[in-house]
Amino acid sequence: MEVRVENGGSYEVGKSGWDGTIISDDLADSLEFPVIDFSFLAKGGEDEVQKLQKLHLACKDWGFFQVINHGVKEEILEKIKAAVAAFFELPFQEKKKYAMAENETEGYGQNFVVSEHQKHDWSGMIYLLTLHSQNRNFKFWPLSLPGFKEALEEYSREMQKLAEELQANFSVLMGLKRDGLKRLQGGGLKQGIRMNYYPICSRPDLVLECSPHSDGTSFTLLLQDDDVTGLQIKHNEAWVPVKPIPNSLVVNIGDATEVIYIYVTYEFDFKLRTYVDFLFFGVQMQSNGMYKSIEHRAIINEKKPRISIATFMFPDDEQEIGPVETMIDDQNHPKLYRNIKYVD
Ligand code: SIN
Ligand code: FE2
Repeated sequence: MEVRVENGGSYEVGKSGWDGTIISDDLADSLEFPVIDFSFLAKGGEDEVQKLQKLHLACKDWGFFQVINHGVKEEILEKIKAAVAAFFELPFQEKKKYAMAENETEGYGQNFVVSEHQKHDWSGMIYLLTLHSQNRNFKFWPLSLPGFKEALEEYSREMQKLAEELQANFSVLMGLKRDGLKRLQGGGLKQGIRMNYYPICSRPDLVLECSPHSDGTSFTLLLQDDDVTGLQIKHNEAWVPVKPIPNSLVVNIGDATEVIYIYVTYEFDFKLRTYVDFLFFGVQMQSNGMYKSIEHRAIINEKKPRISIATFMFPDDEQEIGPVETMIDDQNHPKLYRNIKYVD
């Protein structure tokens, strides 16, 4: 069987495969996938690093966590899911109007499974740049679909607020002021939203919704259906299913954070050694791999279609990322990454 992408729109699927042990749902429950209660995070306190230890451990040990009590209203989450469902219910000819063209990253794309000369449509996605707002390409937005633009704009705003709060907490973990990372990124991260729709598949053993990959982002916020499990993450060489908690969001650390993020030494329990001089360098700090960008994938569901909405937060293409010399010591923390532009 061949899985491939065709235009109207295209995006890379890669090969499907079932490498690694798949942990059962029951076992996954006992692994205590990190859940971060957002209302407990230190709002404002640069001196409250201890409060963020759970967040730190989630990023270090899992690279993934679910966020509850994030403050985004349930109706906003429902509205965007409904808008996405309505888009994918449009006839193909209609959706095709927003098709991703070659060499473009935005627009509608569709995957096909080809078997015995037959073509089965099995999943679709639409990716739109949402921030900075001047980067919006409305030719890819289904503006004639009632409520879609409003729902996406509202959702984008909410994700931006949440991302800023997360970034502020990451800054505090790094011994910075809350706006430290934002200042380093010259005014904040960009945002793109990818909406995925996966219909029911009678042969889930044959296809993966979404092949194993890590995200090239700073971090990603994923909204998924409350009652359809699909996302799996690689943890200790096994695939662990992430059971959706209703109204929660799944956050994962992306490659840009793994490369550029925090360089701290944890001695004993939670003792930070940080530097602030780097603020005066033209480059960002790096984690030297402390926070991991974890491989993940989505599996197809036999009984229910599934929607997932991934909000990617990422630096500007020209942003230089990499280690700061003062943050490297050859003995314990050799430089693991060279400086690069984000686009590279
Ligand atoms: C993704 O990682 O791009 C999507 C994952 C999902 O659909 O759960
Ligand atoms: Fe992903």
